[in-house]
Amino acid sequence: MSMQSVASPAITLNPPKRNLLAHIPGDEGWPVIGRTLAILADPKGEVERMAAKYGPVYRSRVLGETSISVLGPEANELVLFDQTKLFSSTHGWETILGRLFPRGLMLLDFDEHRLHRRALSVAFKSGPMKSYLAALDAGILERVTRWRQTPGPMPASVTPIRQPWPGTQMARGVKGRKRIVAYFSEQIPIRRAKGGEDLFSQLCRATHEDGALLSTQDIVDHMSFLMMAAHDTLTSSLTSFVGALAAHPEWQVKLRDEVSSLGVAAGAPTTFDNLEAMPLSEMAFKEAMRMKPPVPSIPRRATRDFNFGGYAIPTGTFVAVNPLFTHHMPEIWPEPEKFDPMRFTDAAQRGRHRFAWVPFGGGAHMCLGLHFAYMQAKCFARHFLQNLSVSLEPGYTPDWQMWPIPKPRDGLRVTLKPIG
Ligand code: HEM
Repeated sequence: MSMQSVASPAITLNPPKRNLLAHIPGDEGWPVIGRTLAILADPKGEVERMAAKYGPVYRSRVLGETSISVLGPEANELVLFDQTKLFSSTHGWETILGRLFPRGLMLLDFDEHRLHRRALSVAFKSGPMKSYLAALDAGILERVTRWRQTPGPMPASVTPIRQPWPGTQMARGVKGRKRIVAYFSEQIPIRRAKGGEDLFSQLCRATHEDGALLSTQDIVDHMSFLMMAAHDTLTSSLTSFVGALAAHPEWQVKLRDEVSSLGVAAGAPTTFDNLEAMPLSEMAFKEAMRMKPPVPSIPRRATRDFNFGGYAIPTGTFVAVNPLFTHHMPEIWPEPEKFDPMRFTDAAQRGRHRFAWVPFGGGAHMCLGLHFAYMQAKCFARHFLQNLSVSLEPGYTPDWQMWPIPKPRDGLRVTLKPIG
C-alpha cells in the first residue's frame, strides 16, 4: 500500500462569502486588519468581551479572514473529537503555520494524518521514552545547576504581516525554517547509518504499514514541526509552572515534600517509578496549564455545512475553539484566577465535562507528546525543587503575553536560591 493510494485527496476549502456569515452575531473590527491587534494585545480579554457581548458563538476577523469562535466544553468536543471529519486541521492551521511548518502532523488531515500518526507513534512508545528520560534527566540536572533560562517564543506565526518581506518576523521565521530543513536533511543519512535512541533517529527508522521508511521530506517536516510542538509548548508551560510556584510558596513546600519522599539523592537519575510517585507535581503542572494553556486557541475549517448553538455555519468557515476561555469559565472553574492544583484530584476531574480542560486538545489530533510532556515536566520539577527555591521580587506581578504561545513579556523576573 503506497502513501499515494491511501492519502486523502487534497481538498480545497474556500472561505464562504462574508454575507453567509452575517447572521452570526459579532464584530469584524477595522477594514483589512480586522480585530487582529485586539486579539494580539489581550487575547483572553478580547474573547471574554466578545463572548459577553455576542454569546458563545461569535463572528470576528483575524489575520485577514472572518472567523467564528465557538466557546465552551461542548464546542471543544464538537470540533476536536470530530468523528465525522467535519473539521479540517490542515485548512485551519495553514493560515497560521502553513508557511513555517507545512505538512507537520497537526497540519495533515483524515486518512493521511492517521497513517503518519501511526508511523510517528513508534517514537513515543515506552522503550524510546525511557531513553529520552535518561537524556532529559541529565540535561535538566545540568541546566538546573546553572539556571539561566529565557523562554523561546515563536512570534512569526501570528505576526500581522503574513508575507516574508525583508526585515519582518515572518522573514526571520522562513529563514529559520530553511536552516532547520537543511540541517535535518543532511543528518538523516547519518542517523540512519549510525542508529541511536533519540527521537530524530527513531523517526529516521520509522516505517509506514507497508514497511517503507518515511521519506526524507516527511522526516524533515515532522521533525521541524516537533521542534515547535515539543519545545515551545514545554518552555511556555514550565515557565507558567515556575511562575505559579514562585507566587505560591505553600505549594513549593508541598511539592518539595513529595520530591523528598521519593528518597532519591540529589543528582541521582530519575526513574519512571519516581515520576509515577509525583501526583501532586502533576496536579500543579495541570493547573499551570489550565491558567495558561500553551495552545490558547485551536483553529479548524469546516468541510461541510453544520449547525452549532442555533446557528447555521457554512462549508469553508474558519472555526476556532478556545482552551484559554474554557479554562477560565467561572461556572466550571470557581475563582478561575486562583492557582489551585486541588482542582485536579481524580474525583474533581471525574466531575467535569471531559472537554472542560483541553491543553492537549482531544480527538484524532490530541497531542502525541502528552506523556513526553508530563515526563519532562515532572523530571524538571524533581530537580528544580530539590535544588532551588523560587520567589517573585516583592511587588512584581509578571505580565504575560498570551498569544500565540504564553510567555512573560519580561522573561519572568524571579529569584532563585540554592537549597540543601
Ligand atoms: C505542555 C506541553 C504540550 C502541550 C500543551 C501541547 C499541546 C498540543 C495540542 C493542543 C495539540 C493539538 C492541536 C490541534 O488539535 O490542532 C498538540 C498536537 C501535537 N503535539 Fe503537543 N503539546 C505539548 C507537548 C508536546 C511534545 C513534548 C511533543 C513531542 C515530543 C508534542 C507533539 C505533538 C504532535 C506531534 C502533535 C500533532 C498531533 C496530531 O496532529 O496528530 N507536543 N499538542
